[in-house]
Amino acid sequence: MKRRAFLSKLWMVGIGFVAAAGIWTSWDLLRPGESKGFGGKVRAFPPETVTPTNVIEVAAARAYVTDVNDDVRALSWKCPHLGCRVSFCDSSGQFKCPCHGSVFNRAGDLLSGPSPRGMDGYPVEVGPDGMLYIDTGTTIEGTSPG
Ligand code: FES
Repeated sequence: MKRRAFLSKLWMVGIGFVAAAGIWTSWDLLRPGESKGFGGKVRAFPPETVTPTNVIEVAAARAYVTDVNDDVRALSWKCPHLGCRVSFCDSSGQFKCPCHGSVFNRAGDLLSGPSPRGMDGYPVEVGPDGMLYIDTGTTIEGTSPG
């Protein structure tokens, strides 16, 4: 092989490596469903942490996790009425919105107030690492009263 042909092939291999590195980096940054912050799947905690007697706030998901009749749910803390942050009241065991007074039970169902529906939620799943993940990229609309 002549020197000119060898250097030409060497350049082609080098350009191929640079292109592969660029594609790898772009894919790593842009692949869907792999976000670790709000808007993607948020890693929360081991599923046994949530019990029928507690409600756990997950700030990274902007949500509360509850266990209602062995159904683990992630409820958005954003009120369906006008978007204020709903808080959980330990003494009453209910979620209450400070803005206009909507009240929701532990399952996120609307009990009273101007909210048009119950609290919105997010799908939850147990990941391969045994941790609970909240998919904040998918919103489950709260149920309408009645
Ligand atoms: Fe929650 Fe109005 S914003 S009741």
